[in-house]
Amino acid sequence: MAVASMGLIGVGTMGSALALNIAENGHPIALYNLDPSTIDALISEAGELASKLTKTESPADLVSKMSAPRAIILLVPAGAPVDATIDALLPHLAPGDTIIDGGNSDFRETQARTAKVEAAGFNFLGVGVSGGAEGARRGPSMMVGGSPSAWEPIRPVLEAIAAKHEGDPCVAHLGPDGAGHFVKTVHNGIEYADMQLIAETYGLLRDGEGRAPADIAPLFDRWNEGALRSYLTEITGKILAAVDPNTGKPVVDVIVDKAGQKGTGRWTVIEAIRMGQSASIIEAAVGARVLSSERDTRQVAANILNAEPETDDVSFNEADLESALLSARILAYAQGFRILHAASDEFGWDLDYARVAEIWREGCIIRSALLDDIATAFRGDLPEGRLILSDFFAPLLAKHIGALRRVVAQAVLAGLPVPALSSALSWYDEIRQARGTADLIQGQRDFFGAHSFLRLDQEGSHHGPWRS
Ligand code: 6PG
Repeated sequence: MAVASMGLIGVGTMGSALALNIAENGHPIALYNLDPSTIDALISEAGELASKLTKTESPADLVSKMSAPRAIILLVPAGAPVDATIDALLPHLAPGDTIIDGGNSDFRETQARTAKVEAAGFNFLGVGVSGGAEGARRGPSMMVGGSPSAWEPIRPVLEAIAAKHEGDPCVAHLGPDGAGHFVKTVHNGIEYADMQLIAETYGLLRDGEGRAPADIAPLFDRWNEGALRSYLTEITGKILAAVDPNTGKPVVDVIVDKAGQKGTGRWTVIEAIRMGQSASIIEAAVGARVLSSERDTRQVAANILNAEPETDDVSFNEADLESALLSARILAYAQGFRILHAASDEFGWDLDYARVAEIWREGCIIRSALLDDIATAFRGDLPEGRLILSDFFAPLLAKHIGALRRVVAQAVLAGLPVPALSSALSWYDEIRQARGTADLIQGQRDFFGAHSFLRLDQEGSHHGPWRS
């Protein structure tokens, strides 16, 4: 007997949370997981929602216990497990059934899977889900890619379980096949950048001023009341204030300083560069994670490369730090939206940038006070989608960029690494330079490779007088 039209495969932390959210919104749901004990645990802890959760023994069993048209959400690790799960489902589906990949999949794989599943006669949606386990339980932000005919039937369920911003569900159909997963990838790229900018700011206070985590935490709490208000600012204050129950030390002081990554930040940079876009702040963040994992090298190098700082003045003005972080955060969002713009052009997605900003206002990891203003800027008349040139952001950056300049200059002189903060500043300074230095690059290219160059004063391509 059919127990549900919703199904979920991959009942880990995220899957469990999402299943409870779906059940709470009135939808019975069939569950399958490779390790069945996680489903038992979920059902035993689900209280009154347990009656809406049904354990199944295999993908085929899951399909057989569902009523058509089925919507089956996959929350399995990106890559081969997604393909294996799709292959296990396909022979059992009926026309009208939809597979929804809710993992952090590479958008190119989503494009290929959409084609494959549609060719088999079924629907496929690639949905970027953000907000971690808490978001999945209480309301995530969801970025949907796929055909409109696949989206419309599932829309009411996703709108019901999504985070709400003043009643507006933080979910949208953004474009065909890989569009949703691409937007989620760029979301994560911005997430990497923002996390790194925050970590650098913490590092300036810890290593520059010798301040303890408990002393830095209130600063982030205070910043979270102002223009820097965001989920990442908020949790930074909480993390820095937390004490390790085993040692009584600040938790951050007992955490190994090696940051992991699953690939989405790196994919953002790769795709950006492939499309001829600069993603320098995101790239700095990815690079910093890579170097963080070379802990052994850093331990050795700390004793050999001990350059004396060029200044003894390592006290940072707190208002400057706040402004520096704000301007760098704006620039990181701006880079992200430029990458979305490039992809939208290349793939013909016609992305609605304002709507992307709107569905990031709640539920997701990069939700912040800035996103409302970003949405408003995109709803207005932006010159070619360039966020930083908007009537709102250009003056805001002008007001705060001096602080970023001072903080970066001070950090550099003090020998403190600020790869993302300095990338943000350099990007700002490059993009506002009416006459750049690529005249010399073109001269060099022509000198050694006769690549030719354009002249300011004549039409056509030209060579320099190098051989004369
Ligand atoms: C989110 C997060 C989530 C996760 C990513 C990034 O939006 O909820 O981005 O998807 O944190 O997997 O993880 P890594 O830092 O491991 O790449």
